[in-house]
This record gives sequence, C-alpha cells and structure tokens, in this order.
Amino acid sequence: MRIDIISVLPELLESPLEHSIMKRARDKGLLEVHTHALRKWAVNKYGQVDDYQFGGGAGMVMMPEPLVSAIEELSATVTYDEVIYLTPDGQQLNQGIANQLSLKKNLLMICGHYKGIDERVREHFVTKEISIGDYVLSGGELAAAVLVDAIGRILPGVLNDETSALFDSFQDDLLAPPVYTRPAEYRGWKVPEVLLSGDPKKVDEWRHDQSLKRTKERRPDLLDED
Ligand code: ADE
Repeated sequence: MRIDIISVLPELLESPLEHSIMKRARDKGLLEVHTHALRKWAVNKYGQVDDYQFGGGAGMVMMPEPLVSAIEELSATVTYDEVIYLTPDGQQLNQGIANQLSLKKNLLMICGHYKGIDERVREHFVTKEISIGDYVLSGGELAAAVLVDAIGRILPGVLNDETSALFDSFQDDLLAPPVYTRPAEYRGWKVPEVLLSGDPKKVDEWRHDQSLKRTKERRPDLLDED
C-alpha cells in the first residue's frame, strides 16, 4: 500500500511512522509513506498557504490553490482510491473503517491546520473525512499518524504472528481479554489457572468469556450495535 500525506508540518509525521511496527511495515516494502510539504505549492515566495477567512472571524483558512496544485500533481502519477481529509467534523475512526482502508492500494491524506481548509477543496477533491475523536488537535498530522498506524499494522504480513491482529480489541466488536506473562505468581497474585492448563479449547473459551464480560462492563454500546 502507498500513502501520501500533504501537510504544512511534515516533520510532525516523521517519528511516529519511523519506529516499531510502522518501520517494519515500511522496511518489508508492505507500506510506502510519502510526506509532502504543502509550502512547495505556496502561492508566493513567502511560502503563503493560508489566508483570512471571508466574513471575518479569528483564524486563518488554508487556501485552495496550494492544496489543489498538490493534489493534482500527486494524482498525475498515482491513482488514489481515497482522498482523506483529517478533521474533527469527519466520520469517527473505528476498527471497521481502518479495516476497509487497509484493503485499498493508494491513499492520499490531507492534514488541516488553523481553521481548516477551504470548503471548495472538501467539496471537489476530498472523498472521505475522518476524525480520530471528539476533541480538537492543533493540526491533522497526529490524526494522520494514528490513521496510518491503524491501517499499517493490519496489512497482511506486517505483524509477525498474523493472527494477533485478529484478536485485537474491536476486531469482532469485543474488547480484548486480559493478558498475563511470567512469573505465574507475583507478590502472591496468581495468573488464572486455566491459562496454565495447556488446554487450548478451555483457554479460548475463557478468553471469549472474559472479552464478553469486559465489553459488557466497559463498552456495552459495542454489543448493542447491529
Ligand atoms: N484535526 C484536528 N482535530 C482533529 C481530530 N480530532 N481528528 C482528525 N483531525 C483533526
């Protein structure tokens, strides 16, 4: 999969995408991420990419010309399955959306700043708008990093033990069960007996029961859906 990201601050995207599982995905050639500094398409030699909003009011708006030039230049060589704008008024990201996007070949992400981007870019170029939660970040970069991570880690071949992503919280609308490692007893606190039993069927049953219990207690809304 290839992901292109347009941003006024591409440096913000570097660290989260250059370590751990994202690094592995990129090293294995399963995920290609290209960041593009929007100022490359600025409207003047001062690097201007934003302007005051019509109608008055505090805060700058990202101008259409630099964004459209960037989108069109990148689209000339790559056919994007989705042009995604990260914005707090978008559809809220969940595992289902990450799963769907992980099946695509090429994604273009646009990070907003200030008051956001000119509405005409949203109307004419953006195909999907995604929020990572009901709070406002100072820019779309961290949201884009979250989205790339959520997509990248489930690409086939990225995780060593391929089944492990299948047992993540939310993958089946259930939260993940508790997990334990050595020692089997620590400060007198024991690991549940069944996990030491060596009986995979019993372990699976226990994990499923625990997932259900945890979901009922913490996120009953997940059980109400569809
Ligand atoms: N940009 C600013 N806040 C955001 C959010 N919550 N989700 C996605 N993009 C954003």
